[in-house]
Amino acid sequence: KTKRQSVYKLQTLTSWLLKQEQDGIIDAELTIVLSSISMACKQIASLVQRAGISKLTGVHGAFNAHGEDQKKLDVVSNEVFSNCLRASGRTGIIASEEEDVPVAVEESYYGNYIVVFDPLDGSSNIDAAVSTGSIFGIYTPTDDCLLDLEDSTTLDTVEQRCIVNVCQPGNNLLAAGYCMYSSSVIFVLTLGNGVFSFTLDPMFGEFILTQENIQIPKAGKIYAFNEGNYQLWDDRLKKYIDHLKDPGPSGKPYSARYIGSLVGDFHRTLLYGGIYGYPRNKKSRNGKLRLLYECAPMSFIVEQAGGKGSDGQQRILDIQPVEIHQRVPLYIGSIEEVEKLEKYFS
Ligand code: AHG
Ligand code: MN
Ligand code: MN
Ligand code: MN
Repeated sequence: KTKRQSVYKLQTLTSWLLKQEQDGIIDAELTIVLSSISMACKQIASLVQRAGISKLTGVHGAFNAHGEDQKKLDVVSNEVFSNCLRASGRTGIIASEEEDVPVAVEESYYGNYIVVFDPLDGSSNIDAAVSTGSIFGIYTPTDDCLLDLEDSTTLDTVEQRCIVNVCQPGNNLLAAGYCMYSSSVIFVLTLGNGVFSFTLDPMFGEFILTQENIQIPKAGKIYAFNEGNYQLWDDRLKKYIDHLKDPGPSGKPYSARYIGSLVGDFHRTLLYGGIYGYPRNKKSRNGKLRLLYECAPMSFIVEQAGGKGSDGQQRILDIQPVEIHQRVPLYIGSIEEVEKLEKYFS
């Protein structure tokens, strides 16, 4: 008979965050920002799971800054995320995949933290109920981002200062995480001292601590690339991919897995090992993924788990963004697998 873990012993995300605050790892303000992010993710989880019922599948009928056809849930998730962050009263600037420019939280009730996020990642999967997610990163301002919007600064100065405060390298991240909406709803978080995962218990709507100090396997024989772009790739990359398919002396080639949602492919890679890649190609010079709110947060997490995030030549976390929606190639996962790929580009 398995020993039932008594409920009072369960660590919820809320109690875990308060413990981090007690231990001085984060301050009360950041605790509030993270709680508001987890609340946004719970709301999005419920919207995603009931999309077909509440007629939230399909397109919104507008395009975002990337010329992507926004899904209804892209827009709704963006509103949920923004409203939760504003209501927290601890954020000064928010930048989102679904906002053309960063938004200074203009209410009189704002704080210092800067939050960048992809409110719904893998949104092309929504109508078929395949895994999606939300990704976020948190910075403090580089200069005083408590913008005094009442003063006579013109819009572009405010906007410029917002962009300056948001365009920071991933090395400056204080916290990063994602929530995956899949067969389980799993919230993964790092505060710079290890990676922790929390599973949503639908019984009482709380995230329960399920994994501590996650370490990604050093190697793994699973690769996740959209091989539909194979003919558009650099010849050195084609050689690398061909190598993965060579059964070799073991007689076993790598396995291909591709969900088409970075959060889903990344989470599997984090737990099972292997490599996820979104290379540059002839169609898109810098690949498809955005540095600020997809590649940098995921690279912070993977490094905290002993893995590597690279653009093929350098650490993703070293890259200084020059514009909000800047794209970079991304190779991320087990350190031995990413370094094996980098050798093909050296
Ligand atoms: P988003 O839905 O936030 O725009 O991100 C989609 C990204 C990423 O989640 C996924 O890995 C990749 O796009 C899939 O791109 P392809 O369909 O071109 O493979
Ligand atoms: Mn998108
Ligand atoms: Mn995305
Ligand atoms: Mn998105």
